[in-house]
Amino acid sequence: MLKDILPEFSVGLSPMDEITNKEFRRICKRYGSDVLFTEFVSSDALIRDVEKSIEKISFSSVERPIAIQIFGNSEQTLTMAAQKVEKFHPDFIDINWGCPMKKIAGKGSGSGILNDIPKMIQITKAVVDSVKVPVSVKTRIGYDESNKPIVKVAEMLQDVGVQLLSIHGRTKAQMYKAEADWSLIAEVKNNQRMKIPIFGNGDIDSPQKMIDYKNRYGVDGILIGRAAVGNPFIFEQCKQILKNNTPYTPSLEEKVMVCKEHLLAMKDSVGEDRAIVLMKKFYSRYFLGIQNFKPYKMRLMEENKVENIINILEEIE
Ligand SMILES: Cc1cc2nc3c(=O)[nH]c(=O)nc-3n(C[C@H](O)[C@H](O)[C@H](O)COP(=O)(O)O)c2cc1C
Repeated sequence: MLKDILPEFSVGLSPMDEITNKEFRRICKRYGSDVLFTEFVSSDALIRDVEKSIEKISFSSVERPIAIQIFGNSEQTLTMAAQKVEKFHPDFIDINWGCPMKKIAGKGSGSGILNDIPKMIQITKAVVDSVKVPVSVKTRIGYDESNKPIVKVAEMLQDVGVQLLSIHGRTKAQMYKAEADWSLIAEVKNNQRMKIPIFGNGDIDSPQKMIDYKNRYGVDGILIGRAAVGNPFIFEQCKQILKNNTPYTPSLEEKVMVCKEHLLAMKDSVGEDRAIVLMKKFYSRYFLGIQNFKPYKMRLMEENKVENIINILEEIE
């Protein structure tokens, strides 16, 4: 059972496209992320052996427990993709029924499925039945304001064999707007029929908020997305607050060291040019709150040699 390999309460890095690659995941793991997910990967692309997608599902054993996350809109492609990723021996396979982006949801993948619940359940069941590895689902509370069926959907997903459910407290229509509504997540968790672990997700941006929401909503785990970008330290801070300790504040030296490590690992993995592009999403986040960061940021954004970026990072004060 998946629940047996998870801690009693998990704080994990939420999957994020072009962010939670194996280099960043490994850093978050070191700082205490209890569970990891790959970036979402297209089932179609996996079946066609697209190199970039195969690269996205690779992971190292230090990352366990880890899920490979797949998306798609048909029983055939999702089951074929699940069978393919099973060969990579993830601890579980996560189906993405939550992405609201037009190019995904518009085709009935991700949260696009939330206006056709029978199809969502049928495909999920087919995936569960097609593999031996546990299957989990990450989804949203509903399609739009008038259609928030998550409490029933959670029961149905459990009934077809899903072993973990992560819920982002927004509808598809909300995208990332408004505040995440955790009351429905709590309703799922407090439903007597539910036995599988329920992870809550949405807007957790500090260890204080993590513990507050843990206590208030009683979930089995919390996934942190945007607030972990360039801030892997949040996992260690969460660990400390869970042990009743005051969370530490990472020093500038630590931030520089980890950012350099991240950049160099990316360079080794995807090459200099791609690493430089992908790392642009991280600098402002690593150095959030550092006064006078703007001139450094401008230089970091323009630089096209890793060696020079390292020099700039070392100058930050
Ligand atoms: C840039 C970006 C990429 C994302 N990519 C994925 C993804 O690949 N799979 C997924 O399930 N969710 C994805 N999400 C959603 C996050 O995992 C998470 O559910 C959402 O950001 C809410 O959590 P947060 O408020 O802690 O960020 C993405 C979010 C962002 C901002």
